[in-house]
Amino acid sequence: MIPYGKQLIDEEDIKAVVEVLRSDFITQGPKVEEFEDLLSQVVGAKYVVAFNSGTSALYCAYRVLGLLEGSEFITTPITFVATISSGVLVGLKPIFCDVEEDTGNLRVDLLESLITEKTKVITPVHYGGHPVDMARLWEIAVRHNLYVIEDACHALGSLYRGERIGSCRFSHMAVFSFHPVKHITTGEGGAIATNDEAIYKELLKCRNHGIKRGNHWYYDVEFPSFNFRITDIQCALGMSQLRKLSWFVSRRREIAERYNKAFRGNLYFDIPIERDYAFNSYHLYPIRLKDKKRRKKVFIALREKGLGVQVHYIPAYWHSYLAKMGYRRGLCPASEDFYERVISIPIYPGMTDRDADFVISKVFEVFESL
Ligand SMILES: Cc1ncc(COP(=O)(O)O)c(C=O)c1O
Repeated sequence: MIPYGKQLIDEEDIKAVVEVLRSDFITQGPKVEEFEDLLSQVVGAKYVVAFNSGTSALYCAYRVLGLLEGSEFITTPITFVATISSGVLVGLKPIFCDVEEDTGNLRVDLLESLITEKTKVITPVHYGGHPVDMARLWEIAVRHNLYVIEDACHALGSLYRGERIGSCRFSHMAVFSFHPVKHITTGEGGAIATNDEAIYKELLKCRNHGIKRGNHWYYDVEFPSFNFRITDIQCALGMSQLRKLSWFVSRRREIAERYNKAFRGNLYFDIPIERDYAFNSYHLYPIRLKDKKRRKKVFIALREKGLGVQVHYIPAYWHSYLAKMGYRRGLCPASEDFYERVISIPIYPGMTDRDADFVISKVFEVFESL
């Protein structure tokens, strides 16, 4: 089975991990800060805090804003549910903004109609690696005095108008995930980039039980939190992976281009687009079926042909806990339509051209036979 995404680990990565295993510190040692420093240089932000997952990073991102319970954040339903649950867990209420039919990103032009007195945060998700139009979003956020947390879990290595995602030029924080299907991996892991020193200091505490260190043995717990720490083992892997990021991204783009050439103008589905302001790092290659009634059959047939296709995403508010909170089907029609058409086909840097050609031939075989 060719999966939709997969890590690429080489001997250098293994060596980096083994070195840490032989050292004095396998957690809470020097590799964590080294990884954070390297990542801050790579994305172009002043500060980075690394976490044990993208989800814990998102949780802390919402948490450190210190918002009143019931405050609202506007986000997209076409995302992994962690974008939403992390806000819900700190007492915030998600407000769903419908998406663009081609990029799957939230529609910036709808944001103002969703802003109320309770709105405090906008959380755009760069779906599949294609950046949201951040300058327009930021202009709205500034005018309404809102925080912006980029869920950049799909978008390490993407550029918006030439700016690196993670530079936080148009946001307060950008959150990354290092799950194995992402651009780089630490096994599990995540990070937040920010240029705001006060936010940075709170994030450090949130990662570690709300602890503020004092002199000698003394420390104070300023608020209750969890252990969201990442290990030195993971950070050593992360650094070794980060050094290959630009190659990983160009390889993903080469595969995307190979797919684009083969699939452009076909009768069965639309391919991902890249707006003029976007440089997509292609975490995903989502195709959108013209005839959504065929989606289930096509999905099953592709799996039977050995392609580990996936659907990103079920609209978040369809999940039972959100339905119980009162969100109804039909809330975001374009998102539901997007979900009903979309299938992610395999894309990851370890794919060979032969693998990509195999995917292309199987995709055509399936659509032509159904
Ligand atoms: C858009 C999005 N947000 C958040 C997450 C959560 O990241 P993690 O799996 O590292 O907790 C993911 C990854 O699965 C994601 O795709």
